[in-house]
Amino acid sequence: MTGSGCYLLGCSEAEQARLDSQSAVLAPATQAQLDRLGIKPGERVIDLGCGPGYVLSLLAERVGPTGSVIGLERDARFASLARRHVAERSLSQVEVIEGDAFDAGQPRASFDGAHMRLVLVNVPDPQRIVREMASLVRPGGWVASFEADLLSLNCDPPSAEWSRLLDAYRAYSDAQGIDLCIGRRTHSLFRAAGVTDIHVEAVAYVSSAPNPGRLILLDFVNNVREQMIEQGFIGRAELESDVAAVERHLSSPEALVTSHLFYLLTGRIPR
Ligand SMILES: C[S@@+](CC[C@H](N)C(=O)[O-])C[C@H]1O[C@@H](n2cnc3c(N)ncnc32)[C@H](O)[C@@H]1O
Repeated sequence: MTGSGCYLLGCSEAEQARLDSQSAVLAPATQAQLDRLGIKPGERVIDLGCGPGYVLSLLAERVGPTGSVIGLERDARFASLARRHVAERSLSQVEVIEGDAFDAGQPRASFDGAHMRLVLVNVPDPQRIVREMASLVRPGGWVASFEADLLSLNCDPPSAEWSRLLDAYRAYSDAQGIDLCIGRRTHSLFRAAGVTDIHVEAVAYVSSAPNPGRLILLDFVNNVREQMIEQGFIGRAELESDVAAVERHLSSPEALVTSHLFYLLTGRIPR
């Protein structure tokens, strides 16, 4: 991993800004997924790896003032942003806890539901987190996962520099034990954790200048550029010239970027 408490992409302000804009794009799909679950007022739910807390307010709306939401986040900086997000909205039913989703420290089978978005794509040994997540939910309760997969990420017209950066980023992630194609596998991870009634949908987004979504690969590479260089996945000069070339390429409104494919999974813990 990239340092204690930090996940694959680090915890920088740039990463926070990227999460802010990504969250706005993903919100409608997340809302629809939560609506399909039929979450009831009064439920007790948990969001693992809540980051700056965007999904906490969506969960809080659904469980209402009589319910409760726990946001569990490993990074202290993101946890404090999540607390601010919650305080600004006066969501007294939400508590943000600093902790590790591999061992959430919460009673088994004590939640009506558990949600997790874009955490598995950042951690080694994702099966272990999925088992932990499933163990937190009572029989008959729900789980919801939203994970990315590189499958559809591309730009058109193609760019050799884009491909080189993607290859280096992928090799770097592989070396950290991270599966950037985890999305397609979530169904089997949840099945292996005993989850039933699994339903999977997928969604991708397209963007072109000036939409910042088109810069996703550059955002990822910039977040970990020093580590990629230090660990020998790409030279500094090559990285800098490739980044500049991709920036130029994507400044044309005629260049179209297709995002990751996002897999949205819901399931139930058997009674
Ligand atoms: C890409 S961000 C997604 C944040 C949020 N779920 C969202 O969708 O907006 C991944 C988050 O997972 C957190 N994370 C990664 N590994 C974790 C772990 N083992 N336990 C708790 N949080 C973790 C990171 O610190 C980061 O906040």
